[in-house]
Amino acid sequence: MRISVIGCGYLGAVHAASMAELGHDVVGIDVDQPKIEALSQAKAPFFEPGFEELLARTLATGRLRFSTDFADAAGAAVHFVCVGTPQKRGEYAADMRYVQGAVESLLGVLSAGELVVGKSTVPVGTAAGLADLIEAKVPGALLAWNPEFLREGFAVQDTLHPDRLVYGLPAGADGDTARALLDEVYAPIVERGTPKVESDYATAEMVKTAANSFLATKISFINAMAELCEATGADVKLLADAIGYDDRIGRKFLNAGLGFGGGCLPKDIRAFMARAGELGADQALTFLREVDNINMRRRIRMVELAREVCDGSLLGKRVAVLGAAFKPDSDDIRDSPALNVAAQLQLQGAVVQVTDPAAGDNIRRSWPQLDVVDTAEQAADRADAVLVLTEWKQYRELDPVAFGTLVKQKRVLDGRNALDREAWTAAGWTYRALGRRAG
Ligand code: UGA
Repeated sequence: MRISVIGCGYLGAVHAASMAELGHDVVGIDVDQPKIEALSQAKAPFFEPGFEELLARTLATGRLRFSTDFADAAGAAVHFVCVGTPQKRGEYAADMRYVQGAVESLLGVLSAGELVVGKSTVPVGTAAGLADLIEAKVPGALLAWNPEFLREGFAVQDTLHPDRLVYGLPAGADGDTARALLDEVYAPIVERGTPKVESDYATAEMVKTAANSFLATKISFINAMAELCEATGADVKLLADAIGYDDRIGRKFLNAGLGFGGGCLPKDIRAFMARAGELGADQALTFLREVDNINMRRRIRMVELAREVCDGSLLGKRVAVLGAAFKPDSDDIRDSPALNVAAQLQLQGAVVQVTDPAAGDNIRRSWPQLDVVDTAEQAADRADAVLVLTEWKQYRELDPVAFGTLVKQKRVLDGRNALDREAWTAAGWTYRALGRRAG
C-alpha cells in the first residue's frame, strides 16, 4: 500500500519505518529539514534502541523515503497524522496547532477514497471536528482514529508487536471501508491474532488518555505509599512486591522513586483534566491533580534527602547525578525528574556534575548552566554524594567497591530503587532511597 506519515518525530519516524518493514511503500513528511536529511541518511534524530537498524534496512529496500514537501503525500491510500500535541504554554490544555496544521495541509493533496488516520494523542472530540472538516473539503475521503501506545526505549517492538489495535471508526459503510483499509495496513499484526477494539472516535481518543492516566495513577499510588513508608519505617519495595503478586494489581508500574516524566504522561494527564473541565466533567478527574502533586513532591523530597545526607547543607557540596533522561534507554529529557532534581540541587548551592549515557548533548543544548561529564566515574570524582536518578543498566551494575574509591564520601541516593542495597552497604556506602529506611 502507499502510505504517508505526517510528522517524523518519535512516533512518526518509528511508524514510517515500521510500515515500510511491513512491506508498504512509505513517505514520511516533516517540515524540519535537518530531521528529514538525517532520517534519509539512516541517522536517527533521537536515541531509540533498534531504530537505526530498522531505518537502514527499510531505506535500503527503496520502500521508505522522507520529504519536506506535502505534495509527496499525494496518492497515498492512507495518511497517518503523527504530529505532537505538547502542553500549551501557561495552561494545562494540549496545543492542537500541529494536528490542525497537518490536516489542513493534507486537505490540499487528499482525494476521495483515501483514509486519514489520526495517531496523535488528542483531546476527546478532536476527531469528530476533523472528520467534518475533511468531509466538507474532500467529500469521499475518510477519517479513522488509531491511537498509538509505544513506549520510548521499546518503540520498534511496540509498533510492530502492539498489545492491541484500537480503531475509532466512522459510522455505517464508511466505517467498513476504513476498517478494511486499516486491516490491510496492519495485515501481519491482525493475522497473528492481536486483540482489536473497534469503536466510535470519542472512545478511541479516550482509550489513549485513559491508559496514560491509569499508568500515571499507578506510579503515583506507589509513590504515595512511599511517603507513608517514609513516615512509618516500612519498605515500599517489599510492599510493591507483595501487593504486585495479586494478579488484579500486578507488579508492573509499581516502581517507587522519582516518579514519572517525559513528553507524554505529565502533559497527557493535564490535557485530560483541561478537557474534562471544558466538558463540564472536571470533578471526574480532580484525582489526577493529586496524581500530579504526588509525582512532583517526589522531586522535592529527593532534594531534601540529598541535603540531609550532606549534613544539612548543599552549599559547596559536590554532587554526582547519574542519569538525566526521563527513563533509561532514551535520550529524552522532556520534563525529566532527574534533570529537575539536578537543577534544584545546583540552585541550592551544590556543585553538580551530571552524566547520562545518551542525553549528554540534549542537556548541553537545553540546560547550558549544568555541568555535564561523560562518565559516571568523572561525575563521582571527589563527590560528597552520588545520586542515581535514571536507572540505566550501567548504573545498576556499578561495582560499589571500585566506585567507592572515587568519591569523597560514600553516600548514595537511589532515586529509582534500582541498586542492590546490600552490595552498596556491604561496600561501606550510606544508602538512602525514597520509601525505604536508611541502609
Ligand atoms: C508512555 C506510555 O507508557 C506509552 O504506552 C504511551 O504510548 C506513551 O507514554 C505515549 O503517550 O506516547 P513513555 O512516556 O515512553 O510511554 O514512558 P513510560 O515507560 O510510560 O514511563 C513514564 C515515566 O514513568 C518515566 O519517567 C518512568 O521512569 C516512570 N515510571 C515508570 C516510574 O516512575 N515507575 C514505574 O514503575 C514505571
